[in-house]
Amino acid sequence: MKTIAFFDAKPYDKASFRQFSHEDINIRFFENRLNRDTVSMAACCDGVCAFVNDSIDKYVIDKLCEYGVGVIAMRCAGYNNIDLKSANGRITILRVPSYSPHAIAEHTMGMILTLNRKLHKAYIRTRDHNFSLEGLCGFDLFEKTVGIIGTGKIGCAFADICKGFGMNILGFDPYENKNFCGEYTTFDNLLKNSDIISLHCPLTKENKDIINKDTVSKMKKGVYIINTSRGKLVDTDALIEGIKSGQVGASGLDVYEEETSVFFEDKSDEIIYDDRLVNLISLPNVLITSHQAFLTREALKGIAQTTMENLLTFFDGKECRNEVTAG
Ligand code: NAI
Repeated sequence: MKTIAFFDAKPYDKASFRQFSHEDINIRFFENRLNRDTVSMAACCDGVCAFVNDSIDKYVIDKLCEYGVGVIAMRCAGYNNIDLKSANGRITILRVPSYSPHAIAEHTMGMILTLNRKLHKAYIRTRDHNFSLEGLCGFDLFEKTVGIIGTGKIGCAFADICKGFGMNILGFDPYENKNFCGEYTTFDNLLKNSDIISLHCPLTKENKDIINKDTVSKMKKGVYIINTSRGKLVDTDALIEGIKSGQVGASGLDVYEEETSVFFEDKSDEIIYDDRLVNLISLPNVLITSHQAFLTREALKGIAQTTMENLLTFFDGKECRNEVTAG
């Protein structure tokens, strides 16, 4: 029997993982995030299961290795929160490369529709018996141009949705994907010609702040910027400046560069000390969701199933196709 320390466990995680329980694996659910202060909870465990906002730096990896933990099973696709260099050759990293790209793609379109047709405002108005349409005018998505940065599984699923709306679809990706239903173009062309820009690439050292003051200035005036990928792809100050000047017409953010201390938690009785986040929330044309794009029944099921399969393959001593290598 192998024991897994499962960090940042939420009730929906427990429910989905219990569906795939296995006699060889004992999961200890911890509500805490994995970081320097909590890593000792993994002592005596054979593996850990971690998520997007756990901080798996050199210190944490050194400690896990000291405890004899052999595997970190990420229950997500991204692994930018792991110091891969420290992990290389010492501890195995597994991930869930794909669960439901549709979950994220559909949430992305939901954000666009909400911002464009002002559904977030209409919902509040009618609850207050205010039936005025003043200020709620949007635009047709039909024949508008959407620019998709990153045309992997999620980017392609989102492009397919946009196709259904009759939009023109531009894509930028260093590796072209035959499943992409749009037209590939250069990064600058995409910035210049898109009415809506949506980020679907992973966060790497090279593309941190890919949306910055300079790139925002190259976009169409009134552009919508949607980020359901990783917060650090966007320089928040540049985004706020763009929104305040009118260069950016609206922004939908499911991720935020400093999300770790707030997202996924109920902070409704607390003061938020992150002024940039408070500033963003106060803007009428910004919609923030708390990294929830993945949150569908199908995605949770896929995450739990693949994570358990990854762990069983690892403990069987077999090669796992979902192993992350330092590259
Ligand atoms: P994927 O690996 O299928 O596709 C990513 C694509 O981005 C690849 O085609 C790659 O070549 C491209 N790419 C890499 N660097 C790029 C750059 N600088 N510019 C343009 N394209 C670039 O990954 P998938 O499954 O589509 O996921 C994409 C991202 O979505 C993940 O890395 C993760 O950050 C984010 N995500 C967010 C979730 C949420 O709940 N908000 C849930 C799942 C993933």
